Amino acid sequence: MRNMKRVLSTASIALLLGSTAAMAGIAESKHNLSTGNAGADDNGRICVYCHTPHAANTAMTGAPLWNKPLPTTAAFAMYGQTIAGTQTADAPSMVSLACLSCHDGSSALNAVINAPGTGAGNGAIGNAGTMSGIAAIGADDLTNDHPISIDYIPGRASLVPVDTPLTGDGWGAYTTVGQLLRNGKVECGSCHDPHEKQHGTFLRNSNVGSKLCLTCHNK
Ligand code: HEC
Ligand code: HEC
Ligand code: HEC
Ligand code: HEC
Repeated sequence: MRNMKRVLSTASIALLLGSTAAMAGIAESKHNLSTGNAGADDNGRICVYCHTPHAANTAMTGAPLWNKPLPTTAAFAMYGQTIAGTQTADAPSMVSLACLSCHDGSSALNAVINAPGTGAGNGAIGNAGTMSGIAAIGADDLTNDHPISIDYIPGRASLVPVDTPLTGDGWGAYTTVGQLLRNGKVECGSCHDPHEKQHGTFLRNSNVGSKLCLTCHNK
């Protein structure tokens, strides 16, 4: 009886979630390239444009089971030195290069390492295409973007300690500011969750009232 009740309430929670703002929802987002830019021959797969269960690109450390080659852009102009005196790395970290392997404006969106199907091996799926307009935020030049591949040094630029709890809901499994960092650095994935569309522009949380910015910067 008690079990039955639990099953029923789980079902009604699922219904509730389904009928209101669903979490994640990559299928309805711009990161579902299967219905977006890249087109046919992908067996309707969504994850395959970025991940593969086998033969992943292990050179892209931090980007798990990565299914894409390095970006074709040879070098990115980095942000450089901040007012507080922190220097960005000479090149983007691999986990940000993963994003830039589409968002550089020159790499083919459909270039994958392991295409769907037995032994499909290297190649491309669907129609080739590249990013254009403002979505190509890293077209060689990252000097006009919030610094990435930069150490998070609390105190500089009013940055809060890494053990500061994340406040409010919408953070998924994350509980502290430190979990936003990748290897101690700010990367694309610090502010964006490429699977999560509920906050708009794949942000990790709402930026209403600049909430996301104020999570790190105590301004
Ligand atoms: C547009 C590219 C892209 C697509 C499509 C994509 N992912 Fe990811 N995924 C990434 C990147 C980049 C990361 C690492 C991001 C970070 O630093 O947090 C990641 C991380 C992950 C992680 C580890 C982080 C975590 O959430 O715990 C899982 C699991 C994952 N993806 C599953 C999936 C699945 C399942 C799909 C298909 C339904 C999918 N991804 C589709 C780019 C993508
Ligand atoms: C497989 C290619 C691919 C990869 C890898 C990829 N994206 Fe995208 N992304 C896209 C496409 C395609 C769009 C839609 C572009 C457009 O609207 O012109 C997009 C759009 C976006 C947008 C804008 C969403 C909106 O609502 O306008 C953001 C933000 C974004 N991506 C962030 C990221 C981040 C951060 C990563 C890495 C964690 C990443 N992307 C990795 C293909 C990719
Ligand atoms: C410090 C936080 C932060 C970092 C780091 C960051 N972004 Fe963003 N990004 C944002 C915010 C906030 C927006 C929404 C801006 C808006 O609404 O115009 C955004 C918007 C975007 C867009 C949509 C285009 C636009 O400006 O409207 C793309 C694409 C994107 N980001 C990709 C990336 C990629 C790729 C990286 C890593 C190279 C990255 N972002 C790093 C905060 C960040
Ligand atoms: C995940 C943490 C994090 C988030 C979120 C974040 N930042 Fe930053 N921000 C940093 C770090 C790290 C630096 C480098 C600080 C330093 O050492 O100078 C920085 C630096 C800056 C700088 C100073 C750059 C310079 O040249 O001195 C500005 C301005 C800034 N961020 C604005 C923003 C805005 C606006 C947002 C929201 C869209 C935002 N930040 C979100 C971590 C973050």
